[in-house]
Amino acid sequence: MKTELYRGREQARFKHELLEAYLERLFMIVGQHQRTVCYVDCFAGPWQAKGDDLEDTSIAVSLNIIRKCKDGLRGMGHDVSFKALFVEKDPTSYAKLEAYLSGRKSESTQISSLKGEFIDLRQEILSFCGNDSFTFFFIDPTGWKDAVELSTLDPLLKRPNSEFLINFMYEFLVRTHTQDPFADDMQRIFGEVPDTKGMTAEAREEYLVRRYRENLKTVVPARGGQPRTACVKVKKVLKDRTLYHLVYLTRHPKGIIEFMAASDGLDLVQKRLRAMAKQETQVEANGQMFLIGAVESIKKDEGRPDLSEVKTYWLTKLSSTPRRFAITDLADMLEETGWFASDFQKAFKELEAEGIVKNQDAQRTRPVNAVNFEKSETLVRLK
Ligand SMILES: C[S@@+](CC[C@H](N)C(=O)[O-])C[C@H]1O[C@@H](n2cnc3c(N)ncnc32)[C@H](O)[C@@H]1O
Repeated sequence: MKTELYRGREQARFKHELLEAYLERLFMIVGQHQRTVCYVDCFAGPWQAKGDDLEDTSIAVSLNIIRKCKDGLRGMGHDVSFKALFVEKDPTSYAKLEAYLSGRKSESTQISSLKGEFIDLRQEILSFCGNDSFTFFFIDPTGWKDAVELSTLDPLLKRPNSEFLINFMYEFLVRTHTQDPFADDMQRIFGEVPDTKGMTAEAREEYLVRRYRENLKTVVPARGGQPRTACVKVKKVLKDRTLYHLVYLTRHPKGIIEFMAASDGLDLVQKRLRAMAKQETQVEANGQMFLIGAVESIKKDEGRPDLSEVKTYWLTKLSSTPRRFAITDLADMLEETGWFASDFQKAFKELEAEGIVKNQDAQRTRPVNAVNFEKSETLVRLK
């Protein structure tokens, strides 16, 4: 992605990188057993785009990934039918959207758009998806009203065979959740009017995002597995404050694993983008040359758990009775803690080196990971 197109809105670049990385993983997996895959951008834009060809928007990012995955899947012998729908209410943005999409109509993806308010178009969106497709809904509004409340999302959440990526506008919600005029809206978002009095800023953030995630899981479609959520924090570029969370909802354990793997891969990207933006601002303000490279100044472990904490957590899961750990266990662990699989792998490796735990199924040849959850390996605590 071109750095200059995202100058001053580096958080949008991170969002697009995550969308790109996760959609590719997702489509390449579901495309192997689904005849039709749908992508719905419920708040499409274009919005704040700098490039003429919209390459710095979720519209182009998603369509490019669809094209790449369709070709990749065809090469594997799967002829998957992809459909993409873009919803936008602003007339000027919609005109740009239409013009852009008409230039991509020759592609073998069925591309459509709807003009209007998302809340009024929910039934049309569902009709577009049909009953048999797998659908990924991207919910990326500019505010929370008529967008992220459960009452608004309910018909979509009830749809089986669907996944969601929702922009949870933390910066707005943290200000409004205690204000009386918004009490009804907060009830619709969190399932309660959250009482965060006396909480630290960190505890309040953790509480509000958890409440929203738990509330999302209360809407259950007629079929599908247990609902699971994960989330990634996106910080303001120049301040050490959360701007929004990207909340992900799936009904498949593999979904959480793939989403967290994509986020893990981009953890450093977000840190690097913020460090570079900070340094550029300082240079502009002071006319100074770079003293240290932005990349060297990144605190790689910032926001990552302390390994001793992860090891203690592992020990609560293990006992002297050997037990198999499958992908559902890994999904539970990721969902419960918000840590990455790489944190768990690193901690298990250390515990094993210390002779505290053992993977009874570990291969004799040195494996990349300490535990292969795909193979349901048997783990035991030795002391
Ligand atoms: C944050 S922007 C989307 C950015 C885009 N997802 C991206 O990453 O490039 C939100 C878009 O939703 C549109 N929008 C806001 N409220 C809407 C509503 N109620 N229904 C449909 N579109 C809406 C705005 O005009 C804006 O273009």
